[in-house]
Amino acid sequence: MAILEILEFPDPRLRTKAQPVTDFGDELQQQIDDMFQTMYDAPGVGLAATQVNIHKRLFVIDASEDKSDPRVFVNPEIVEKRGIEEMEEGCLSFPGVYAKVQRADEVVVKAQDRHGNPFELDTGDFLAVVIQHEYDHIEGKLFVDYLSPLKRNRIRKMLEKQQKKQSKHLLIN
Ligand code: NI
Repeated sequence: MAILEILEFPDPRLRTKAQPVTDFGDELQQQIDDMFQTMYDAPGVGLAATQVNIHKRLFVIDASEDKSDPRVFVNPEIVEKRGIEEMEEGCLSFPGVYAKVQRADEVVVKAQDRHGNPFELDTGDFLAVVIQHEYDHIEGKLFVDYLSPLKRNRIRKMLEKQQKKQSKHLLIN
């Protein structure tokens, strides 16, 4: 297994619309294992393939408190949304940034597991929010897209400054 590099906003590769998964072979299995390791290491509750520069329709989630509920969603479709809620969200591609986003309170999602077996999940609360957030990633959409252009710009400037500092630090070391 390996820890993959997570792309950070405003990296334009985060805007890529991912392609459907058709091959459930060794390469995919390896990528899923690496994504779980990367997500747990970060640590985060969800990671979309797009965020690690793999442009497949795939994300992993573990929304449990004790990291005991790993879930894989391949070729997901959100087929139903119910209700409205607002939650403060963060994202591994936006270190240190949190913002309130309004989403559906409950979703029904159809997807395939890591071996291609189809399943359907009807869920609410935190897991439903994470599913919607990760689904956006594979569409090239980001949680800051729900904010005003002014707020989004402020976040972009802050992260660009952070990234510049980090790259200087790498040069010195
Ligand atoms: Ni995210």
